[in-house]
Formats: sequence, C-alpha cells, structure tokens
Amino acid sequence: MKDYGHRPVLVEEALAFLQASRPGLYIDCTIGLGGHALEILRRNPGARIIGFDLDELSLRAAARRLAEYQDRVKLFQLDFREMLDVEELVPFEEVKGVLADLGISSFQLDNPERGFSFNLEGPLDMRMDTRQKTTAEKILMTYPEARLAEIFKKYGELHHTRLLARKIASQRKLGLLKNTTDLKKLVEEVYRWVPQKNHLHPAARVFQALRIEVNQELKNLDVFLDRLVRKCLPGTRLVVISFHSLEDRLVKKAFQSLASGENGQPLVKILTRKPVQPSPEEIEANSRSHSAKLRAAERI
Ligand SMILES: C[S@@+](CC[C@H](N)C(=O)[O-])C[C@H]1O[C@@H](n2cnc3c(N)ncnc32)[C@H](O)[C@@H]1O
Repeated sequence: MKDYGHRPVLVEEALAFLQASRPGLYIDCTIGLGGHALEILRRNPGARIIGFDLDELSLRAAARRLAEYQDRVKLFQLDFREMLDVEELVPFEEVKGVLADLGISSFQLDNPERGFSFNLEGPLDMRMDTRQKTTAEKILMTYPEARLAEIFKKYGELHHTRLLARKIASQRKLGLLKNTTDLKKLVEEVYRWVPQKNHLHPAARVFQALRIEVNQELKNLDVFLDRLVRKCLPGTRLVVISFHSLEDRLVKKAFQSLASGENGQPLVKILTRKPVQPSPEEIEANSRSHSAKLRAAERI
C-alpha cells in the first residue's frame, strides 16, 4: 500500500473489528490521510464514509486520495468530539462502524513547520487545527511554572518536571526559547541526556506532553465515547486505536463502564479483552506503529 507519508496502522485488524464489509455508513473520527478509509471504500462498494479531522492540510490530502470515491465520502474539519453537538450531521441509524485512530500522523510529524517533531527544527506550534489560538509557544511563554511542571508530569509521565519548568521559565525570560531545537537542547541539559541504545529521548515525552495540552487531546474522550454509544444502534462496532498509555487507559475505562452499563443492562460488549497490538512484521515495516493499541466494542 502506498503510504502517502503516513502508513495506516493495524488496518486488517481495524477493518475486521468494524466488520467493514457490511454495506452502510462508517464514521472515521480521524480521517488523517484517509488510509483506513480508502481500504474500507476500496473493498466495500456498499460503504459510505463520514470523516472528520481538525487538520485542514490532512483533510485536503485525504480528499485528493479518496477522490475516486468522492460520491461516497463526506469530510468535515471538526473535532470529532463535537460531532454529536451538530444536529443532523450524522444519521446514527445508518452507522455500522466508528473508527478513531487517535494522535497525529507522520504527515504532520514530518513537516517541520508544524513543530511536532523534536528532530526537526521549526516553530513551537503543534496545533492540529491551525485556526486555534493556543500554540506550544504560547503555553511555554505564558503558563506559570507550576502548571508547566504538572503538564509534563501528567501527560509526559516525566520525572524532575519542576526543574524542567524552572529552566523553561528562566530561558523564556532571556528570549532563548524560540524553536523546537531550543526546546530540545534545554531538555537535553536538564536530563543530562547522552544517547543510549533503546532509551527514549526525554524530548519525546516533553513534546508529547505539550502536544496533548495544545490540542487538549484527552479532554472528554471518555465522555464522547459514552455519548456516542448511546446514539448508536445495536450491532454498531467501535474501534479505537491509541498511541500512549494515558489515552489507552481512558478508552479501556470508558469501554468497561459501558460494558457494566446501567441497572445491570450493558450498553456494549467488549470485543478485545486485551488491546490488539501490531505484529512484529508490522512494527518492522512501520516503526511508528510500535506503541499502537486497538480496542473494540459492539453496541448491544
Ligand atoms: C493517526 S492520524 C489518522 C490516520 C488515518 N487513520 C490514516 O490512515 O491516514 C490521526 C489524525 O487525527 C486527527 N485528530 C486528532 N485528534 C482529533 C480530534 N479530536 N478531532 C478531529 N481530528 C483529530 C489528527 O489531525 C490526525 O490527522
């Protein structure tokens, strides 16, 4: 499969859990470059897709890639967590499956202008939706030290975050924190980084934490899943792919709570007792898939 700068992860598994060969409507919460969507449309002539993404450039790329199937695709630049608030946007009685492949794509990560990668020099931006005002720079320049430390601890699961926040506060006063390289160097100093095989660069976690805060990635994810399930008809399949433990924990808890249901009446059946992870072959072919975890459930 041509990768268009982003290889979709766990494609066969996602399509199998979605039972994506059934005719009907599928919701792709995070269409990205349209990798999963393309496979659904290509293999199933009876499938239609409504796709969402916050990122305008990704949506444009997805539209070009899915052009052949344009009469079966509708795309919207919208936070998927808001789809339930827009009346008549999604006819839930027609929905057979919902996919959310969370996080960012390689297309975003590999563009230095977006500021997502600590390996590429660029502005401290990290917005998925460039219409949004809050950038990583704004957070780094304006958040109080204590709040910065909390974010790095909570979303980056890092140690010594007070020290890190103190260093950021002193560097920003001096105007020495201008781009991704400045931040990476600062992190390397604080953590006295020496490259070691099989050790994650501490900047990876710092950048992850900032990205989560900039895009409020974990906010209301569980609330969304709960509301979504209540809208879906029995038989609708939900598939969520996450890329870090905080996100996966939220999805796991949301599914568990829905499976316990109300008054002994479960709302979903969990289809993945343990999360499904990529095979060694997939990780070999696409190293960025290594942290992916897929969870699936069926509305009952
Ligand atoms: C991992 S990529 C999806 C890749 C896609 N499945 C493919 O095969 O090309 C995640 C995408 O979700 C988008 N995204 C993340 N959170 C979002 C949200 N809350 N609402 C809408 N889009 C979101 C990102 O901008 C990114 O394009």
